[in-house]
Amino acid sequence: MQLTNLLVLAAGASAAVTGVSRRGDAKKCLCKSDVDVLVGKYKDILNAWKPEYADYIANEGFYDFSQSINTIAGLPDGFPIFPNKTAFVGYESTTPDNIPLTVEKVGPWNCDQIALIWNAKFAKAPVDPNNVRGITILGAKYEDKVWKIGSIDVEFDSIKYNKNLGGSTTPPPPPPSSS
Ligand SMILES: *[C@@H]1O[C@H](CO)[C@@H](O)[C@H](O)[C@H]1NC(C)=O
Repeated sequence: MQLTNLLVLAAGASAAVTGVSRRGDAKKCLCKSDVDVLVGKYKDILNAWKPEYADYIANEGFYDFSQSINTIAGLPDGFPIFPNKTAFVGYESTTPDNIPLTVEKVGPWNCDQIALIWNAKFAKAPVDPNNVRGITILGAKYEDKVWKIGSIDVEFDSIKYNKNLGGSTTPPPPPPSSS
């Protein structure tokens, strides 16, 4: 093959890539490095909030929905605890979670959603810390030419979490004996 043919091929290939990304703005998909960035930011946000993390929260359509959080907060369920970015950023800015969350497993993920499993071992003294395991699904939103966290759905071991905060729960009564 002649050099000119190779150059034509190379030009064709890069034009094809450009074409994909230009069209892709309508339906852009996460790649592995995007997933790593968003999962890393989610962890950072929960570990120790910093104002610049707000840039990674989508402006439009953001929500954080968690029946576990509503239950711990003593609220009814069925609605997002933070229905928009302002509410979420406001909460994190004034009362950051500061949870030592570690990521146990990332995936599965697809075009614009990421499932992850996490652990967090913490407690308010004098309580012995219990490990809390949780599952989060991050919705990803491509906004202003970057991937941002577009939504958070999270459920976790709220019994252990409640214990870590100094709360208590009463186990159910034993089953009736069969004799
Ligand atoms: C954001 O959510 C809060 C409730 O937490 C609500 O009071 C506020 O009006 C909402 N703000 C916008 C801009 O929708």
